[in-house]
Amino acid sequence: MNSADFKKLVAEGIPETLPEPGEYDTGLNHAPKRKDILNVDEKKLAIKNALRYFPEKFHKVLAVEFAEELASYGRIYMYRFRPSYEIKARHIDDFPCRTKSAAAIMLMISNNLDHAVAQHPDELITYGGNGAVFQNWAQYRLTMKYLSEMTDEQTLVMYSGHPLGLFPSDKDSPRVVVTNGMVIPNYSSKDHWEKFNALGVSQYGQMTAGSYMYIGPQGIVHGTTITILNAARKISRRDEGKGVKLYVSSGLGGMSGAQPKAARIAGVISVIAEVNPKATGTRHSQGWVDEVFSDMDRLVARLREAIADGTVTSIAWQGNVVDLWEKLADEKIFADMGSDQTSLHNPWAGGYYPAGLSFEESNRMMSEDPDRFREEVKKSLVRQVAAINRHTAKGTYFFDYGNAFLLEASRAGADILKTGGEFRYPSYVQDIMGPMCFDYGFGPFRWVCCSNDPSDLAVTDEIAAETLSGLMKRAPDEIKQQLADNVHWIKEAARNRLVVGSQARILYADAEGRILIAGAFNKAIRDGRISAPVVIGRDHHDVSGTDSPFRETSNIYDGSRFTADMAVHNVIGDSFRGATWVSLHNGGGVGWGEVINGGFGMVLDGTDDTDQKLKKMLYWDVNNGIARRSWARNKGALFTVRKEMERTPDLKVTVPYLADDDIVEQAVNKIQNR
Ligand SMILES: NC(=O)c1ccc[n+]([C@@H]2O[C@H](COP(=O)([O-])OP(=O)(O)OC[C@H]3O[C@@H](n4cnc5c(N)ncnc54)[C@H](O)[C@@H]3O)[C@@H](O)[C@H]2O)c1
Repeated sequence: MNSADFKKLVAEGIPETLPEPGEYDTGLNHAPKRKDILNVDEKKLAIKNALRYFPEKFHKVLAVEFAEELASYGRIYMYRFRPSYEIKARHIDDFPCRTKSAAAIMLMISNNLDHAVAQHPDELITYGGNGAVFQNWAQYRLTMKYLSEMTDEQTLVMYSGHPLGLFPSDKDSPRVVVTNGMVIPNYSSKDHWEKFNALGVSQYGQMTAGSYMYIGPQGIVHGTTITILNAARKISRRDEGKGVKLYVSSGLGGMSGAQPKAARIAGVISVIAEVNPKATGTRHSQGWVDEVFSDMDRLVARLREAIADGTVTSIAWQGNVVDLWEKLADEKIFADMGSDQTSLHNPWAGGYYPAGLSFEESNRMMSEDPDRFREEVKKSLVRQVAAINRHTAKGTYFFDYGNAFLLEASRAGADILKTGGEFRYPSYVQDIMGPMCFDYGFGPFRWVCCSNDPSDLAVTDEIAAETLSGLMKRAPDEIKQQLADNVHWIKEAARNRLVVGSQARILYADAEGRILIAGAFNKAIRDGRISAPVVIGRDHHDVSGTDSPFRETSNIYDGSRFTADMAVHNVIGDSFRGATWVSLHNGGGVGWGEVINGGFGMVLDGTDDTDQKLKKMLYWDVNNGIARRSWARNKGALFTVRKEMERTPDLKVTVPYLADDDIVEQAVNKIQNR
């Protein structure tokens, strides 16, 4: 297809004549059939809602077709309207537009729906099983049409994938404002999502799916590398001078599969258990796992050898993680660090496979005898915790990886609670990400080269490495290590070959680092060293972007971790400081109703105007969270907020006075003993 034809099709919107119904592509990974949650009247409403996108002349045909889709898949995806062209990131000039900002957004949307990137591309789902860019193909078509027509004086309003329309604004406004899954708080149970989504009025945007900011597996590899590096560092302070460390965990699935790759980059030996041979095979063929063992004695022998030689290798144990923990304890193999990444947020329907049953037996039992399956899961968790406790008694550092392991193990009656009723082990955000990264402003800054050209990405890597190396020379001790890790990461990034889809990169940086890198990119675009605009953005899993009491804000201890002011303010503040688009979501990572998160995208076009915007916006985007974290008395954030106020006389943050615990205790004793 030539460029003019492609542009015409992208700008077409809803076609004048009905396209032929396409085949259901069995070669693709499709979303599971959703729950049949609507009553008859609601089904009629869902069909009427879907027909709103089409002229009346099509309704007779489409009503029957949409009813069939609803019955077969639990949703109306409008498969017939999937475009005939390949959806993927391309050069920004390939997209039809009247403003480059809109073309950059089209590039980002296209990347999120690329077959090589998206989990269920035909259902417009990018990752996490339900992380949607749009609810149906009519929304995709209309959005691309609006973007192709938009000027620099209009803003496109997106309600959970539905393009409400183009509204007059001005050149300094965001070009797109996105919300996903925003509902009245009392209507935020999982079944509410099922229902509203089936009606076609709301969607789960996850974090970077519904905000067009997903960049493939690179993000999760980087985050996991930072976690494992810092976990290793925590224990090396206790255990200086020991050889190569051993990390034991489970899961070689979507996110968990990053563990062996990340451990290798972090210079740590890893053994990851995986019950599903298909998942193990994928990671092995991809080169993310070096060796696979299904014989426990051979695995133990290989581990002893690797530990003795100090050989960094990543090993998959093809079997249950419970058997692995038990065997390593029996054989007295010391695991320096451990975690778990089975999908325990979904324990009864395939997220966790109990020990003592084969993979196939479990799959059968969970549908044929779900009550017994539940009991098996609980028994297995009790055994798993008992084995982990044997290791931690010898000094293993164990942490929860945001998968509800501690929660489900405690519900199963495992020995996982301390005497005060708290969990024996910390979560990765409480212990690592929060105090070591977020409280100092370090978070997942990312960018995408709109030329779609790897040589531009190489230039940005160089610029980012130079910028962070320069910062490191004058950085205070508190953040030197974070900077060093990211300089190392960015220097190795090209060699690790993690680009899938758009020409994107991620690293962790604080406000100063993000501003300097973005400013240097903008200058390089102006000077012609980078050939086209660059989009900057971030994962919502960041300093200020997300209020999530059991993850991103789990290390907030002033009682405010169930509030969401920070995430909401962040998006509002970004929107009037120069973001090209902003988004705010209910749900993401830990589930609908459990988290509010938001993000932004900004197009760097080499202009002086953009220089000003990027400074203002990135400064707020990080320091909003620093101010909140410091008000919660977090040590690192108190350090950072003072540093930022010194750097910027206009910043005046309310800083807490720190109460003496004895004074408070005496005061409370007085009223209690009355
Ligand atoms: N990696 C991260 O940074 C991160 C962050 C937050 C949360 N999480 C959580 O981690 C969990 C895993 O995410 P995912 O995308 O990889 O899910 P996934 O379902 O794709 O992968 C989990 C894997 O664990 C395997 N498994 C289940 N029970 C097992 C057992 N007993 N022994 C061995 N293997 C077993 C499954 O076969 C599956 O392949 C989720 O709950 C996710 O929310 C991960």
